[in-house]
Amino acid sequence: MAAYEYETHEYDVVVVGAGGAGLRATLGMAEQGLRTACVTKVFPTRSHTVAAQGGIAASLSNMGPDHWQWHMYDTVKGSDWLGDTDAMEYLVREAPKAVYELEHYGVPFSRTEEGKIYQRPFGGHTTEFGEGPPVQRTCAAADRTGHAILHTLYGQSLKNNAEFYIEYFALDLIMGEDGACQGVLCWKLDDGTLHLFNAKMTVLATGGYGRAYFSATSAHTCTGDGGGMVARQGLPLQDMEFVQFHPTGIYGSGCLITEGARGEGGYLTNSEGERFMERYAPTYKDLASRDVVSRCMTMEIREGRGVGAQGDHIHLHLNHLPPETLALRLPGISESARIFAGVDLTKEPIPVLPTVHYNMGGIPTNYWGEVLNPTAKDPDAIAPGLMAVGEAGCASVHGANRLGSNSLIDLVVFGRAAAIKAAEVVDAKAANPTVNMASVEQALDRFDSIRHAKGNIATAELRLEMQKTMQSDAAVFRTDKTLAEGVVKMGQVAGKMDDVKVTDNSLVWNSDLMETLELTNLMPNALATIVGAEARKESRGAHAHEDYPDRNDKVWRKHSLAVVDGNKVKLDYRPVHLDPLSKQEDGGIDLKKIAPKARVY
Ligand code: FUM
Repeated sequence: MAAYEYETHEYDVVVVGAGGAGLRATLGMAEQGLRTACVTKVFPTRSHTVAAQGGIAASLSNMGPDHWQWHMYDTVKGSDWLGDTDAMEYLVREAPKAVYELEHYGVPFSRTEEGKIYQRPFGGHTTEFGEGPPVQRTCAAADRTGHAILHTLYGQSLKNNAEFYIEYFALDLIMGEDGACQGVLCWKLDDGTLHLFNAKMTVLATGGYGRAYFSATSAHTCTGDGGGMVARQGLPLQDMEFVQFHPTGIYGSGCLITEGARGEGGYLTNSEGERFMERYAPTYKDLASRDVVSRCMTMEIREGRGVGAQGDHIHLHLNHLPPETLALRLPGISESARIFAGVDLTKEPIPVLPTVHYNMGGIPTNYWGEVLNPTAKDPDAIAPGLMAVGEAGCASVHGANRLGSNSLIDLVVFGRAAAIKAAEVVDAKAANPTVNMASVEQALDRFDSIRHAKGNIATAELRLEMQKTMQSDAAVFRTDKTLAEGVVKMGQVAGKMDDVKVTDNSLVWNSDLMETLELTNLMPNALATIVGAEARKESRGAHAHEDYPDRNDKVWRKHSLAVVDGNKVKLDYRPVHLDPLSKQEDGGIDLKKIAPKARVY
C-alpha cells in the first residue's frame, strides 16, 4: 500500500462540486440542519455554471400565457421521447417554485416594466403543445444568468453554515463492503495534503465532460470527474452517446454566444445571405431545437454555403437590433464577440459554428438524485449513499437532446430535490459509516501510481489524441464507418493511459498530476460515448446517424448503460419511464398530448 497520511473529516453529507447543482444541493442540505461539506476543485464562483448565459426555463407566464404542461410537452419533444416522463413532470412542475426561491435568495433577475422577472424566447419552447407561437419562458439576468445564480447560492450556502473545502480535487469514491458509498478521498491542491471525507451521503455535482472534445464551450475544468469516479466503481453511465452541439460557438475559439441572441431577434445566414432556417423549420425557424439548428448549419456548410475564406462557418446577425437592446439584454456576448471574434456586433455578423456544449448522458439517477445501479430484476435499483445532480447526472429529463435553458432549471430543481431526499434518508443522529480501509488503500494506490507514472506519452499529447478522435468520429453527423473507426481508435487511445508520463511528482500545485488525473476521468466518459453511439442504430435527438436517419421507437426507445473497465465497455439497456407522476384526473397531463410523433419545428 502507498504510504500517505490523510486527515479524516466526518459530515452527514459531502457534495463534490460547487456549480449550480452542487451549491443548490449544499444550500438545501445545510438549511435542513445536515452537517454539509462542499469540496470543489475550483473556487465556487468560478465553476462552469458561471458561463451560463441565456437563462433558466420556468412557466411563470410573466410575458404572456404559459403552462407547465406546455413546458412538459416541449421538454418531451426536445428529448426526442427518450426522457423519463416522471422526472420531466417533476422538473417542469417544480420549476416556477425553484425560480421564485432563487429570486427570494437574491438572484438579480432582469425585470419587466412591471417589475416581474424578465423572460425571453429560447429554442424549442412553445405554446399550446407546439401548436402556438414561441413562448417567452426563459428567465434571465441579462446574459449572465449563471453568474448571478452562482454568486447568490454561494452567499446563501455560507449564511447557512455549509463548510467549503476549496481547491480540493476528488480522487476516488470510498465504498463500503456492502456497496454503499462512504465518502470521497481528496487531494488539497495548494499544500499537497490528502483528506478523507467520510459521509452518510455523497453527492456528485461535478459537471459535464465537454473537454473530451477538441472544441467545446465548456470550461477546461469540465472533465467528467464524477463519471470517472463512478465508472471506476463498476457502476454504469447512461445515454452517453447524446452529446449536444450548441449552434453558436464563436468560430475558432468555441466561446459561447447565447441562444438568447436568437431569442432577442438574431438570425443565421449562409454565404448567399439566406436565412436558411426558414427552409428547414418553417414554423420556429432560428428558434427550432438546438440539435436541429446545429444539423441545418452543418448541412449548409457541407453543401458549399458556408461563409468565410474556407466556407466553413455561418453568420449570426444581431446588427439589425437596436444598440440599446444589445447593451441591456446581451452585454456579455457583445464583449465576447469583440474579444474572441474581433466583431462589433452592432455593425457586423458574428462567425459561428456548432460546438460541443452539453452532455445529456451521465450518472443514472431517479428524480431525487439517487444514483441507480440497475439490475436485471430492478432497473431502478439504488446505489446506497450516492447521489448525482446537474450535468454529471442523468435523471433523465433531457433524453436525447436538451432544450436551451432547461439546464439551469435542472441544476436547481434536482439540487433542491437531492436535499429534500437527503433530509429523509440521512439520519443526522446516527454514527458515520466505519471506513472501509481496503477502499481507501485502493484509492491511495491509484493516486500514487499515477503520480509516479513513468511512461512515454505526455498527458497533453494523449488528451489531444482523444479530443481529435472524438471531434471527428462522434460529431454532429455520424455514420457506421466513422463510429466503428472511432471505437477502435478510442480503444487504442484509452489503452495508452498505461503508458502516460507524469514529469512532476510533487504534491503542491502540481498541474501535470491534476491534468493526468482529469484525463483518467475524461477517458471512460469518452469511451462510453463512442461505444454507445456505435451501438445505437437509429437517429434520435443529438445522435444523428446518417445510415439510420429515422428514430426507431420500437427497438431503441431505451436508455443505454455503459460499464467501463479500462479500455473496454460493456453495454446494457434499461427501459424509459413512461408513466407520469400524476394521473390526468388528478391534474396531470393527457398522455395523448405527449405520445411519440415526428419531431418537426
Ligand atoms: O445559449 C445559452 O445561453 C445556453 C443555455 C443553455 O445551454 O441552457
